[in-house]
Amino acid sequence: MANANLTKAKNAKNDEFYTQYHDIEREMNAYLEYNSNVFKDKVILCPCDDPEWSNFTKYFAQNFEKLKLKKLISTSYAFTSKGIKGEYKVTIFERKNPKFDKKKVEIKGKNFILAKDKNGDNKIDIADLDYKYLEGDGDFRSNEVTKLRDEADVIITNPPFSLFREFLVWITEANKKFLLIGNKNCVTYKEVFPLIKDNKLWSGKTEWSGGLWFETKNPDDVDKIINGINMKNVPSVWFTNLDHGRRHQELPLMTMNDNLKYSKHKEIRGKKSYDKYKNYDAIEVSFTDAIPRDYKGAMGVPVSFLDKYNPEQFEIIGMAEDNGKGFSGGIWDGKNPHCIIDGKSKFKRIFIKHKEIKNKN
Ligand SMILES: C[S@@+](CC[C@H](N)C(=O)[O-])C[C@H]1O[C@@H](n2cnc3c(N)ncnc32)[C@H](O)[C@@H]1O
Repeated sequence: MANANLTKAKNAKNDEFYTQYHDIEREMNAYLEYNSNVFKDKVILCPCDDPEWSNFTKYFAQNFEKLKLKKLISTSYAFTSKGIKGEYKVTIFERKNPKFDKKKVEIKGKNFILAKDKNGDNKIDIADLDYKYLEGDGDFRSNEVTKLRDEADVIITNPPFSLFREFLVWITEANKKFLLIGNKNCVTYKEVFPLIKDNKLWSGKTEWSGGLWFETKNPDDVDKIINGINMKNVPSVWFTNLDHGRRHQELPLMTMNDNLKYSKHKEIRGKKSYDKYKNYDAIEVSFTDAIPRDYKGAMGVPVSFLDKYNPEQFEIIGMAEDNGKGFSGGIWDGKNPHCIIDGKSKFKRIFIKHKEIKNKN
């Protein structure tokens, strides 16, 4: 196997990336700003998380009262199932719990629950978190974790990258509210795109550019070290079906003529017109900020458009057939599935239309 492929294969199996507390807090603040009661009386499930490793559990436990939660459930995946090198270090939290079991600690998943003031200090916080061992290893697909899913109102986590499709199906089949981290390229998966098109899944508040930084447990795949912690940058973004304000902000755009005259993109400025695909009835718009505000037909845009997608401003028609067969929304000539211009294909295009053309110049 060539070196690049080897690295790719290794990364594909590496699911041990841990989300930073401030990234979680910043994202949650967007939903709270939009609706301060968004989590009120809700059962929150974090199904790939335990307090030793996961800031999701920490965030919701620390903010239990502020968010007026009903219950926080968080489950962890057994150490032996994670496939991490090295020995398991029993934590103080585990050892001092009367339920600690040496035989189970590495091979069983755990179920952490926070619902009441257990230690009698008149507040509910992380100190009241209790745990018990699960029957199995905590796989989210198991019957016992699926039961917890059914009990939950909102499912919030950064799931294993390698199981993202399955994880999303697991959530949507139960019709749950969710807030997840996933790789931005997954928007063209056949399990994801139809949800985006039907406005059942959209981008979270955090902007896509720059990806997200995670703590990694893989010492062979580190981008930088911050305060002694190995960090990895991944093109990850938030996906959700909870509303937030940024999603309703109108994208400011110029007319087609003004773009052709003044666009900051040299690929557009000075051209006579926008390019039209040979095989799709749509124009190519390679940059989201160069979408002409007065064009009535279909436009092919990069997937990063979804970071700016406002459902009151645009309609998503489909995506190119090279991303998913049968998804192009009736504008394809049925021949080459790639979006072709001057004999060259454009990568990963989504087709959109303005919802209404406004008469402003
Ligand atoms: C990307 S990490 C994120 C961890 C944590 N949610 C966070 O953001 O800090 C995904 C976690 O899911 C766990 N995991 C992998 N396969 C799983 C499965 N089938 N069921 C439940 N958890 C799993 C991994 O061990 C890993 O800890």
